[in-house]
Amino acid sequence: MSKREEAINPSVKEVEIQREYIRKVGEINKGKGLKHHTVTYGCQMNAHDSEKIIGMLNEMGYSATESIEEADLIIYNTCCIRENAENRIYGNLGFIKGLKAKNKNLKVILCGCMMQQDAVIEKIKASYNVVDIIFGTYNLYRLPQLLHTNIESKSQIIDVWKEQRDIVEDLPQERKYKFKASVNIMYGCNNFCTYCIVPYVRGRERSREVADIIREVKNLVADGVKEITLLGQNVNSYGKTLEPEVTFAELLRMISDVSGLKRIRFMTSHPKDFSDELIEVIKERENICKSIHLPVQSGSSIILDKMNRFYDRDKYLELVEKLRAAVSDISITTDIIVGFPGETEEDNEATIDIIKKVRFSTAFTFIYSKRDGTEAARMEDQIEEQIAKHRFNKVVETLNPIIYELNKAHIGGVYGVLVESVSKNDENVLSGRLDDNSIVHFEGSKDLIGEIVDVKIVDCKTFYLKGELA
Ligand code: 5AD
Ligand code: SF4
Repeated sequence: MSKREEAINPSVKEVEIQREYIRKVGEINKGKGLKHHTVTYGCQMNAHDSEKIIGMLNEMGYSATESIEEADLIIYNTCCIRENAENRIYGNLGFIKGLKAKNKNLKVILCGCMMQQDAVIEKIKASYNVVDIIFGTYNLYRLPQLLHTNIESKSQIIDVWKEQRDIVEDLPQERKYKFKASVNIMYGCNNFCTYCIVPYVRGRERSREVADIIREVKNLVADGVKEITLLGQNVNSYGKTLEPEVTFAELLRMISDVSGLKRIRFMTSHPKDFSDELIEVIKERENICKSIHLPVQSGSSIILDKMNRFYDRDKYLELVEKLRAAVSDISITTDIIVGFPGETEEDNEATIDIIKKVRFSTAFTFIYSKRDGTEAARMEDQIEEQIAKHRFNKVVETLNPIIYELNKAHIGGVYGVLVESVSKNDENVLSGRLDDNSIVHFEGSKDLIGEIVDVKIVDCKTFYLKGELA
């Protein structure tokens, strides 16, 4: 395949086909007041996919409901990164059996990463006939067509592809927030970290064309969006398959130039691909947030090698130092896995040590979960659950006081805050985020939602700051 073909070229014809199905299903559903209950598991990529699903459902005559009992259509957008994410889905399906007995017209749809695994499909086919439609990560845009076919045939539809055929853009999309949005810049991953299932369920790395990304960003900003998060499994390797090649730093500059865009975030960054050029851009551009999610996974070079991460402990520390030399107050957040096969007490100590050295602003800590089909699943010395739990607790106990101290350092300062929502418990309390992604609660009117306001930080807890309007 030529480099050109590896880039993603939107299929205009498919958009037209699906729009026609949206119209047909909308016609069938007209006047029925149907409701959907959509539940999303996993990462921001899945959350963004759900916005596309909900956008299409809206146009087909379904409005959203929080109540599963009230729903005419239930969708689970699934995740398979760890085993417990999968188990929850099977639990839900058991519960839905009862709902279906009461409402014969209820439709149940499963989609997302978990559906890309043959064993899962076999299990559902054999034991869960409550499911009406299954599709995967590559053909989400075909939801209107699949729903139409199911309505007409009343039979179970399973449509899971092994690879991407078309990229379909410009279908309806519901945005959860008016003032912030996510934009995919690439799909898939080529890294094959040995523990990770993502490359098997999201396929090879494909970058979107610069022009398509910029067009989407400009449209969002024209629509009132102030903050954009660029999404990809490994954003730092953006553009390698494009012709001419484009670096992520170059893309960031172009996005940063879009007039009216106040904040740019991106995730996830792989430490091995973090270039000096990228550090320069972050430093030079005011609207690029000074907050980087940089998964370290482990502090032990031996484990990092077994994880196939292509950096060691020293290289990671060197990168952190470079980032801080360029932007002294940059906040660094991370992902950590404990209990990877073969991990010793010494390896765990190395992780604890790197946490103390880097001083992460936040960390998502996970107990290693064995995923069939990955290289790590075949490794010897899988760690006992009790030992992994003990190490997990040690890691969290190291992290929390550091996170608290870093929060405390904000006290007395005044920061720009993008106001996101009003508290569930008190309608006078607002919640927003600083440039460095810290969450702050403060009193104010809900008219401020979507605005960037100055907030003075007066107090903090481990996971949020408390402030007052400055
Ligand atoms: N077990 C535990 N955590 C995992 N992650 C990915 N795969 C696994 C696994 N098999 C974590 C990594 C990654 C984050 C999104 O999920 O830390 O960065
Ligand atoms: Fe998984 Fe590694 Fe790719 Fe991240 S970079 S999605 S952890 S394989």
